[in-house]
Amino acid sequence: MATCAADPKMAAAAAGGVSSASAVIFGTLLASLTQSYHNIGDPSAYPDDAFSSLKERYDFVVVGAGSAGAVVAARLSENPDWSVLLLEAGGDPPPDTEVPALFFGLTNSPVDWAYKMEPSANHSRAFRERRCPCPRGKMLGGTSALNAMMYIRGNRHDYDEWEALGNPGWGFEGVLPYFKKSEDLRSEAHLRQEGAGRHHATGGPLTLSQYFLEDPLGETLLQSAEQLGYRRSPDFRLDDQLGFNRNLGTLRDGERCSSGKAFLVPAKNRTNLHVLKHALVTKVLVNPENNTAYAVQFEKNGATHRVFSNAEIIVSAGTINSPQLLMLSGIGPKQHLEEMGISPVIKDLKVGENFQDHSALLGVFHAIDTAKFRNRTPEEEMIVDAFRYLTERKGNLATNGVSSITGFISLQSNATDARPDIQMVHICLPKNNKGAVETFIGSQQFNDDIAKYVIEASTKSDILIQVPVVLHPKSRGKILLNSTNPHDPPLIHAGFFSEPADVDVIAEGAMIASRRGRTAALRAVNATLLRQPLRACAHLQFDTKDFWRCATHEMASTLYHPVGTCKMGPAGDKDAVVDARLRVHGVKGLRVVDASVMPTVPSGNTNAPTIMIAEKAADMIKEDWGLKES
Ligand SMILES: Cc1cc2nc3c(=O)[nH]c(=O)nc-3n(C[C@H](O)[C@H](O)[C@H](O)COP(=O)(O)OP(=O)(O)OC[C@H]3O[C@@H](n4cnc5c(N)ncnc54)[C@H](O)[C@@H]3O)c2cc1C
Ligand SMILES: *[C@@H]1O[C@H](CO)[C@@H](O)[C@H](O)[C@H]1NC(C)=O
Ligand SMILES: *[C@@H]1O[C@H](CO)[C@@H](O)[C@H](O)[C@H]1NC(C)=O
Ligand SMILES: *[C@@H]1O[C@H](CO)[C@@H](O)[C@H](O)[C@H]1NC(C)=O
Ligand SMILES: *[C@@H]1O[C@H](CO)[C@@H](O)[C@H](O)[C@H]1NC(C)=O
Ligand SMILES: *[C@@H]1O[C@H](CO)[C@@H](O)[C@H](O)[C@H]1NC(C)=O
Ligand SMILES: *[C@@H]1O[C@H](CO)[C@@H](O)[C@H](O)[C@H]1NC(C)=O
Repeated sequence: MATCAADPKMAAAAAGGVSSASAVIFGTLLASLTQSYHNIGDPSAYPDDAFSSLKERYDFVVVGAGSAGAVVAARLSENPDWSVLLLEAGGDPPPDTEVPALFFGLTNSPVDWAYKMEPSANHSRAFRERRCPCPRGKMLGGTSALNAMMYIRGNRHDYDEWEALGNPGWGFEGVLPYFKKSEDLRSEAHLRQEGAGRHHATGGPLTLSQYFLEDPLGETLLQSAEQLGYRRSPDFRLDDQLGFNRNLGTLRDGERCSSGKAFLVPAKNRTNLHVLKHALVTKVLVNPENNTAYAVQFEKNGATHRVFSNAEIIVSAGTINSPQLLMLSGIGPKQHLEEMGISPVIKDLKVGENFQDHSALLGVFHAIDTAKFRNRTPEEEMIVDAFRYLTERKGNLATNGVSSITGFISLQSNATDARPDIQMVHICLPKNNKGAVETFIGSQQFNDDIAKYVIEASTKSDILIQVPVVLHPKSRGKILLNSTNPHDPPLIHAGFFSEPADVDVIAEGAMIASRRGRTAALRAVNATLLRQPLRACAHLQFDTKDFWRCATHEMASTLYHPVGTCKMGPAGDKDAVVDARLRVHGVKGLRVVDASVMPTVPSGNTNAPTIMIAEKAADMIKEDWGLKES
């Protein structure tokens, strides 16, 4: 693809040289690097904004183009006889979202809703204003375009539990085909494994790849886990999950593969799919005579508009915004809606309740010395990384570092098919890498004491951060409206640690992390456990369960997996908001399809389960409107 700039002679001239051999060679290099840089994240690949050709009515109106909404809109518009409108509050994903190593820096950027959780006596006490961050993506792809790209499905017992809670079809056997339906697995190693065909597929829209990870610290981490008796999980399968290993990522050729890229880019030219960007949906309009949803109201370019649906409205605005939108539309807890002056109350449902999230201690810090693995300064490292990324889409920019290694631990059983209680996540802050440390601290909102401490510690050595996560929290929180202004963020009461059992699980995980620091593998890099400057815990003996309990109340944050605020369950379940076909109870023509419908949070990261939910929902919608699919 010859562009003007890629012409070596032109480039040589641009490099200021006469046409000498060196000028041609280096000019060509510069030109091809520049070209490669401009190819990172091509906005013209995404569907154009359809505002200028907006129609008054569509068969289906989908709100939110995130992990779930992008899938629903793409699948429904496969039928050329249906017209589909997708409304998204954000725009196209910017180039920074494409480079895997830059993901932490997306928090608090313009593509993040940048929510903060409400302060509580029980958690996040060592955070600025005692508020735990709650990032959410605001662009095509939603949170799948700013997340850490880890692809984890969870555990078969998670889905068998959903089914046992009164949701037929959502058990392990029911959901497995929908994980596979999206999948385009590009890892020979995984495809060669025994039984791969039952669990994996190729050729779907969502590309899964192994992270590029050359860092030898990865191997050290896996060995240290083995030395504590944790096996290498072969493939983190739903029915064989326990252990530590490298995980797959939603990655394609060294770039992020968000649900927007996977599902909306191929649908760009469909004439029956209209996408509106920078369109904030403010209300679902429901006819109170027959409780039928018939239109949405949205703001774009400073004006309010309305668009009507012939068949259904599908709300896929995520765990924070879906309940907010339903409540603003008169669907939610009657008392709260009346307090807020919302009338009429269309349907009294426990919208916003059942909030669950994976709280996580960030973390257990070890000073380590990986100098033997490196022979460059951070500046040299950056140049090498940039070069490799631009020439091959490989190197340290093509990975999320040691976060591509994770572990699942059961405290109850060592059977490989057991359901884990703890996930262990890893982060490494390289010595003297100011950018990396500040990005990490900025994403976490730690108070000044901790921020200063981490910055100082990282001038002396590399810092390994082990993050124990409570996978099945007993604590519940809730989302409430703060006002009836749709631009105001709702109140996020995370409820972390309202059940002390959750603190114990994290403290148990911290003890495992600390023991791990004493394994031969981590001793070989001189791992030294560091004590955080937590005044509230100063009276406690360091590295005891009591200390870690205290540290958890102070420093635990979120692993960013809020779910459950529009709970799926049968009519008899007083907490349920949607039924097993994701239709809002008592309202016609309205479904919720996103992470908010999960009755309980699965054993792992939530992007893959959310995409699965959307695949299954799209099939159910097609079936309900007379199309037979897969
Ligand atoms: C920092 C971070 C790291 C994470 N890392 C991982 C990971 O590595 N692996 C993993 O599996 N999971 C990870 N997750 C979680 C995972 O990405 C989410 O669970 C998942 O993306 C949720 O999908 P969703 O469809 O429910 O919501 P979203 O993807 O958030 O989609 C909601 C969409 O609706 C839009 N929207 C909201 N309100 C409106 C409105 N009123 N009008 C119009 N549009 C609206 C939003 O802009 C957004 O695009 C991470 C999350 C975060 C924040
Ligand atoms: C959409 O159409 C453009 C212009 O014809 C073409 O270049 C592009 O490849 C098409 N995209 C898809 C996904 O079909
Ligand atoms: C609900 O009522 C409205 C107005 O009375 C009507 O136009 C619409 O068809 C009804 N919808 C259903 C599903 O009955
Ligand atoms: C699981 O194995 C580990 C390591 O061998 C051991 O310490 C632990 O007690 C075992 N747990 C159970 C519940 O058997
Ligand atoms: C809720 O509203 C109050 C009063 O307007 C305001 O001070 C507060 O910041 C709001 N909370 C959030 C989360 O926006
Ligand atoms: C804090 O935790 C205690 C239990 O340890 C619980 O009783 C209380 O309700 C919690 N408070 C909040 C605000 O969640
Ligand atoms: C670990 O510490 C010892 C003693 O201080 C030192 O000799 C050794 O070089 C260190 N090893 C590494 C990998 O830093």
